[in-house]
Parts: sequence; structure tokens; C-alpha cells
Amino acid sequence: MAAREIRIAPEIENVALPKSERVPDPAVIVIFGASGDLTKRKLLPALFHLGQQGLLPSNLAIVGVARRNLDFCANIKESIIQFAGGQKEAEALDAFAQKLTYHTMDFDDDDGYTQLKNILEKIDEECGTAGNRLFYLAVAPEYFAGIVRQLGGHGLARSEKGYARIIIEKPFGRDLVSAKQLNDHVNQVFNEDQIFRIDHYLGKETVQNILVFRFANGIFESVWNRNYIDNIQITAAETLGVEGRGSFYEKAGALRDVVQNHIMELLSLVAMEPPISLEADAVRSEKLKVWRAIKPIAIENTVRGQYALGNLDGHQLLGYREEDRVNPDSATETFAALNLEIENWRWAGVPIYLRAGKRLAKRVTEIAIQFKQPPMLFFDRIHMNQDSEIQPNLLIMRIQPNEGISLRFGAKVPGPFTNVCPVVMDFQYATAFGASSASGYERLLLDALMGDQTLFAHRDGVEASWALYTPVLEAWAQTRPRDFPNYPSGSWGPKAADSLIGRDGRKWNNP
Ligand code: BG6
Repeated sequence: MAAREIRIAPEIENVALPKSERVPDPAVIVIFGASGDLTKRKLLPALFHLGQQGLLPSNLAIVGVARRNLDFCANIKESIIQFAGGQKEAEALDAFAQKLTYHTMDFDDDDGYTQLKNILEKIDEECGTAGNRLFYLAVAPEYFAGIVRQLGGHGLARSEKGYARIIIEKPFGRDLVSAKQLNDHVNQVFNEDQIFRIDHYLGKETVQNILVFRFANGIFESVWNRNYIDNIQITAAETLGVEGRGSFYEKAGALRDVVQNHIMELLSLVAMEPPISLEADAVRSEKLKVWRAIKPIAIENTVRGQYALGNLDGHQLLGYREEDRVNPDSATETFAALNLEIENWRWAGVPIYLRAGKRLAKRVTEIAIQFKQPPMLFFDRIHMNQDSEIQPNLLIMRIQPNEGISLRFGAKVPGPFTNVCPVVMDFQYATAFGASSASGYERLLLDALMGDQTLFAHRDGVEASWALYTPVLEAWAQTRPRDFPNYPSGSWGPKAADSLIGRDGRKWNNP
């Protein structure tokens, strides 16, 4: 019998949000890959939101660079209308569109960069952007190195008058060797303090709230260790499939696409020691210590899966191998689960289970912290709900959707017997602070404009994470999965993932 849960409303009134005083200096943002999906769905809506909140300097210009010729301004308005939530008055859209310029060029075309340089100089003169340049590589990873080299070769990696910074999208490399090569290459042109390796998960409010939850509250830190915590589970489940990104995904797979970066960022925030401040170096070095303390992952502690056709919400869905631009015999995993251990004083012996997958039963990203049972339970089963054990305390950090935090504990059911029933205290962001249409890119773009690297990856962190996963990827590459596809769309992944956690006597916390 499923445990009965009683919802307790949070005791928070609507909270007035403080007005930010963070307005960056004038700048030009140069987006490589301006005709692509990321620019359309995330970057332009995020910049528009920032503008609406008064968080952009009035002297701001955006230059879209792409190989495809297109009516950028018309497209921008469309993208914002389609993808930016909240109010979108025509006037605001026009004002935003006026900040934009479009430059068509091939990314390996020398003349194109010479022209770009002239465009930027002209913008500096006309718009007072003070020589500050933020380059954003929203392109496929194979173009990263070439664009960086060209920017260096054309003197665009340094600005005489202001700053030059570069944001590089994930995936940053595809294994340890390629990540090191890319880091070396980028470091030859840009200094580390100019480089912003982006992971959009770090821009999410709920992800940043992990640090606030742990370190701005006195009561959790004392139980945040192996003495009280039984296990930690991190789930990044999507209902979407590869959505037309078949050719990209074929070379990536779930481990590279989500586990090595997004899930590892979540894990580091949950497991790190308190940093001495929120400065980039302080936070990044504590995260690095977590990654470096993870025991090499044994292949028996990993599971991979690939979705087959199935049903979700009454819709018949294709299997991965039937998707556009996917090899009909593909061995790429669309699901990965693993069990790892952090070998340090805080976490030794606490199993950490991670899983990520596409076409799963529900869209949910969450961290579940399960606490140990009390040392003795004197509530005799006879006096409890006949079919249920007393459930351990469970703290859930819901990253998305329905952002919030809940804590499950046992309460006495009113009546003449001592029946224990799990109840849930629930904090919901939307109830407490109002719904937000921010995607995470707002905060990260703002931080990059301000030169704050706290929420961006350092080369050491990227390499530490690849060092951990490269042996798994290599082992997987050596043995072709014989059971693919091995889970129906709309399920919770392959059976082997249940066995992975089940052999430790535990279960996934499927919401
Ligand atoms: C991206 C991955 O980094 O993150 C996608 O490439 C994935 O495959 C996406 O769908 C998930 O992001 P979010 O913010 O929707 O959880």
C-alpha cells in the first residue's frame, strides 16, 4: 500500500524580492551560432528578460554570427514571442531588436573575422560599448577550437580598451584527452580568467539554492554526513527524446550529455565542504575536492539503456533507433545509471546513485537524500499500518519542475493506536516567491558580463570529471550492448537500473 502523505502548507508569505544593483558595464555580446536552436530558445529570451528587469546596461549591443543568412531581427522577435515567458510588449521587443546586428560568415573564413573586428570597432564608436566583448560559442563542439584560434589570430582575444571574455558551451571535450586538448588550445589564446565554461544547470535557482540550503541554515549541516545519511540519489529524467538532435546525440549519449556535467555539478554542491566564501576560487576548489575524492567507478556499478518505442500520456512514441539521423543499429545510450562513492571523511560508505535518461516516465530532476532509520524503532508493526514499514526521513530537492524542497517524516495518526504515517513538509518556490520564467541563462549571462566565474567550470573541474567517466566510456565502447533497446519509452529505464540499486536493498525514489 502506498504511504499516505499529508501536505503541510509552507509558512511563508509572498516574499518581496530585492531589487538588484548589479548592472554590468557597457559591452558587445557576440553570439556564434546565432541561427541555432540554443540562441533562439534560450539566449535571446534570457537577454530579453534581463533587459526587462533593467539588468542590462543601456549601452549594450548583440552581434549574431552565423553561416546561414537570415532575417535576424524578424527571427529574434519571433523567438522571444515563442520562448520568453512573461510580458512581451511590442515596444520592448522593438527596443531589444534594435540592439542586434547580424553577421554572416563561415567560422573558418579569415575575412569574416576581419569584418567582424571592424563591425565591433564601429559599434564601440557608435554605441559606446567601451571595447568590452563577450563572445558566446553557441555552436557545435567541433567548431570551438577553430573559432578560438581565429579570434586569437585576429587580435579579438584581447581588448585594448576593455575586456574580452569567452563563454564556451558544453560538451567541453568528449573524454579526458580531448578535454585537455581543448583546454590547452583555449588557454593558448585566452587566460583562464577570461574563460567561462557554461553549464546551464548552475544558472538554475534551485541549483544555487543547494548552497543556501546547506550553508545559510544552521540545522542541516550537522546531519549532512555518513552518520545520518543512508544514501543519496540524483535523477535527471526527461520525457523528451532526442528532438531532432540525432546526429549530435549519436556522438554523445546520456553519460556525456548529462551525467558528466549537469549531474556532477549537482553532486558537487550536495557533497562539498563549506567554501570559505562565494568567490569563484573558493567554491571551485571545494567542488574539485569532491570530484577528486570519488573512487574509480567499477563497470559493474554502471547501467546503460536505450529507449524502444512505447507510450507516454497516450501517445505512441518512436524508439531511439527510429529517430531522425540515428543509426538504426545504434549503440548510443539514452539512459545511464551508476553507483559511486566519495572517499572522504564526510561521505565514506554512503552510496550515491546517479541516473539520467530520455523518454522516461516523468520529467523530473531532483536530489533525494535518504536518512538512516532511528537506532531503534519501538513502534511495533502490529500498531502501525499493516502493510507499511516506517519510512525513513527523505529530503527531496526538486530542481525542476515544481521547484522546491520537501521533507518527509513520520507522524502519529490520530486515534487510539500508535499508527505512524509519513507526512511531507513542502516548500514550493512558486508559492513562496511567485512563478519565474527564467531559464538559468539569465544569471549566467549576467555573471559573465560582470566577470564573475563562480558559477562556471574551471579547467581542473572539467578534467577531473572526465577522468572519472573516461574509463567507463572506454569500457562501454569495447562491449557492444546486446540488449539495446532495453526500455520502453515512458518507463523508468532498464530493469538493470532497478537491480543496480536493488542489490543494496534499496529502491529508486520514483516521484
Ligand atoms: C542539455 C542536454 O545540456 O540539457 C539535453 O544537451 C538535455 O540533452 C538538457 O535535454 C536538459 O536541460 P533542462 O534544463 O531541460 O533540464
